[in-house]
Amino acid sequence: MPIVVFVHKRYNDTQTQLRSRDKRKMKVIHSRIIVVIVWVLVNLSLLPVSECSGSAKCKAWLVQSIPTDMPGLRRVPGVLSTADVFRWLARNSSQRLDIIAQYWQFEANPKDPQSGDFGYSKQDMKRFGAHQGASVYGAIDDAANRNLTIRLLSHSGVYPDYTKEPSKLASGRPNVKNVTLLLSEWWGSGIVHAKVWISDRRDVYIGSANNDWKSLTQVKEVGIYLAACPKIARKVETYFDNLWKLASLNSTAYTTNVSDKQWQTERQVPCWSHFVDSKARCSSPLPGIVETDHVAGYPILSDPHMFKMQLQTPGHNYSSLQPQSSYLSFAPPELSFGKYQADEQAWIETIKSVGSGGTVRISTMDWLGQSQFMKHTIYWASLSSAISEVVFAKNATLKLLVAHWAHFINSTDQYLKSLLYSNVLCNSSEYNHCSGKVEIKYYMVPGFNTTGPARTGNGTRTGNIYPGYTRVNHGKYAVSDVRAHIGTSNLVWDYFYTTAGVSFGTNNSAIVSQLQQIFDADWDSEYALPVEELGEGNAFSS
Ligand SMILES: *[C@@H]1O[C@H](CO)[C@@H](O)[C@H](O)[C@H]1NC(C)=O
Ligand SMILES: *[C@@H]1O[C@H](CO)[C@@H](O)[C@H](O)[C@H]1NC(C)=O
Ligand SMILES: *[C@@H]1O[C@H](CO)[C@@H](O)[C@H](O)[C@H]1NC(C)=O
Ligand SMILES: *[C@@H]1O[C@H](CO)[C@@H](O)[C@H](O)[C@H]1NC(C)=O
Ligand SMILES: *[C@@H]1O[C@H](CO)[C@@H](O)[C@H](O)[C@H]1NC(C)=O
Ligand SMILES: *[C@@H]1O[C@H](CO)[C@@H](O)[C@H](O)[C@H]1NC(C)=O
Ligand SMILES: *[C@@H]1O[C@H](CO)[C@@H](O)[C@H](O)[C@H]1NC(C)=O
Ligand SMILES: *[C@@H]1O[C@H](CO)[C@@H](O)[C@H](O)[C@H]1NC(C)=O
Ligand SMILES: *[C@@H]1O[C@H](CO)[C@@H](O)[C@H](O)[C@H]1NC(C)=O
Ligand SMILES: *[C@@H]1O[C@H](CO)[C@@H](O)[C@H](O)[C@H]1NC(C)=O
Ligand SMILES: *[C@@H]1O[C@H](CO)[C@@H](O)[C@H](O)[C@H]1NC(C)=O
Ligand SMILES: *[C@@H]1O[C@H](CO)[C@@H](O)[C@H](O)[C@H]1NC(C)=O
Repeated sequence: MPIVVFVHKRYNDTQTQLRSRDKRKMKVIHSRIIVVIVWVLVNLSLLPVSECSGSAKCKAWLVQSIPTDMPGLRRVPGVLSTADVFRWLARNSSQRLDIIAQYWQFEANPKDPQSGDFGYSKQDMKRFGAHQGASVYGAIDDAANRNLTIRLLSHSGVYPDYTKEPSKLASGRPNVKNVTLLLSEWWGSGIVHAKVWISDRRDVYIGSANNDWKSLTQVKEVGIYLAACPKIARKVETYFDNLWKLASLNSTAYTTNVSDKQWQTERQVPCWSHFVDSKARCSSPLPGIVETDHVAGYPILSDPHMFKMQLQTPGHNYSSLQPQSSYLSFAPPELSFGKYQADEQAWIETIKSVGSGGTVRISTMDWLGQSQFMKHTIYWASLSSAISEVVFAKNATLKLLVAHWAHFINSTDQYLKSLLYSNVLCNSSEYNHCSGKVEIKYYMVPGFNTTGPARTGNGTRTGNIYPGYTRVNHGKYAVSDVRAHIGTSNLVWDYFYTTAGVSFGTNNSAIVSQLQQIFDADWDSEYALPVEELGEGNAFSS
């Protein structure tokens, strides 16, 4: 019975393709149907019986990394650990493993004077949990030895290892392919910043955790693990394929400079970008493309693609038979495809999904109302506007948690105070009926101000207590009273227009409520401190 249903579903997908494509391609598609049916039968016969008996449903778990030495943080039950999920993805994989990473550093380097890990003792490293990274690396190495097809796509390495780990995995193994993709060659700026694992075209991780040991035990991360979700996995794979294809193309031949009307700047984009005038636009060489015509830029889609499906949530008690809506969103928009919304739209709509008098919770490492890495600075009010709109029109409360750490961007404080000023504006006239509110806190993981190598090159102690680039809240998500959005991007213009990012969102009530719990545990903890509003008048007296 389930076999029939499954095959039928695949067949319908193929039917849709048939309708929309050339009849000349009929033969190819026909043989594809046969291949698909055979593939499905072979695969089903390999699945455990329990999954065949009608219960092979898509399951979703929230995933966290919690830094060591945070005794004051309430633990949310039913949330998985990133290290476990990464190991499972690698170990359960029997055919394919696709990984998008900014950089790799699963193996710690306390002996390398160039490394932020330098000078810590074996005992220190154990206390920091560095062995978790080594074991994830080992699980991928084992997967590579099982002769699976593995594709590793990264921005480029970071000092001092660069591409050592993916190169080591690929070395001497025809089944492992590794590529570096520099988005700055395409957008003049930007990086691959998505953190995505796809195993066997059915299990997926999307979240904030980088492929390094620190992201497992020294940085606070949030992600989602989707298991037995082939429908979602194949869509994420289309995005992967777009990045992979991009890495093989000559950017000089496929980029152009535009005068971007939306952002009022001159900038470089791929020639198929909707920021290019439709007459001058090239046709996209990517396997998956955006189906939106005749627009300048990437305006809000009125009907972004949603998956109406039942998600099981074994990590939470709530269960519902009602299928709920989930979605994927992608950045930059030139790499999106079909009717998937751009990542910026998905963030905005999550904010706007809040009900009257409801609360929107947002957690991010970086927050800026502008661009960070562009030659010409771009002003970017998209998210703060959406927030002020719901504060005014819906009496909504916004709770925003922003990381304060060793690499904090100084101007963040001004932008946060500007957002807090919505509270003054909200109640600025006797004609206003506005009782919404913005609340902002800085998240300081203890030890954030004593990170870096333990010793200098000549052996002198530095006084640092934790390795470099640790002790930070790095999760990027938003959750209203009805919708959860889990992303890979910081809340700064560049991440939406020049940098690769992926989000998964859903109005599944269990995910919504558990993500709220994760946020509240942080918000209520001793590690979150309120950002002060602007002083009474003196900031604007001049
Ligand atoms: C495979 O994944 C499941 C969860 O989806 C997990 O319970 C199991 O331990 C994993 N198996 C291995 C070998 O890691
Ligand atoms: C690995 O798989 C490829 C094709 O998938 C096959 O050609 C090759 O012989 C396999 N190698 C080993 C060592 O099993
Ligand atoms: C990929 O791995 C091979 C084999 O180790 C290495 O020679 C090459 O430099 C790597 N390429 C990239 C882009 O990392
Ligand atoms: C890339 O394209 C440019 C412009 O079309 C051309 O001049 C250049 O030779 C190409 N580079 C490579 C490596 O093919
Ligand atoms: C776009 O502008 C940049 C900087 O002004 C320049 O270096 C680049 O060559 C230009 N690219 C094209 C395709 O004109
Ligand atoms: C589920 O409910 C039981 C009993 O109320 C509780 O002990 C348990 O912690 C709950 N589990 C989760 C994941 O919320
Ligand atoms: C989730 O969204 C779908 C479609 O947008 C809607 O039909 C459903 O009622 C929503 N569920 C909840 C719990 O908000
Ligand atoms: C917002 O709150 C004010 C004051 O309590 C009230 O007058 C107004 O009707 C509320 N607006 C909405 C949309 O609930
Ligand atoms: C931020 O401010 C600190 C202290 O005033 C200063 O040392 C640091 O250089 C500044 N960083 C940037 C990026 O401006
Ligand atoms: C709003 O403004 C009125 C005066 O205009 C003041 O009495 C009231 O306390 C203010 N409310 C808040 C929440 O600031
Ligand atoms: C680090 O921050 C904590 C808490 O704000 C403070 O008590 C401590 O003095 C700081 N340490 C250093 C070395 O700045
Ligand atoms: C070691 O290097 C630090 C700076 O990196 C310097 O301040 C210190 O004097 C050096 N100590 C010795 C013993 O050379």
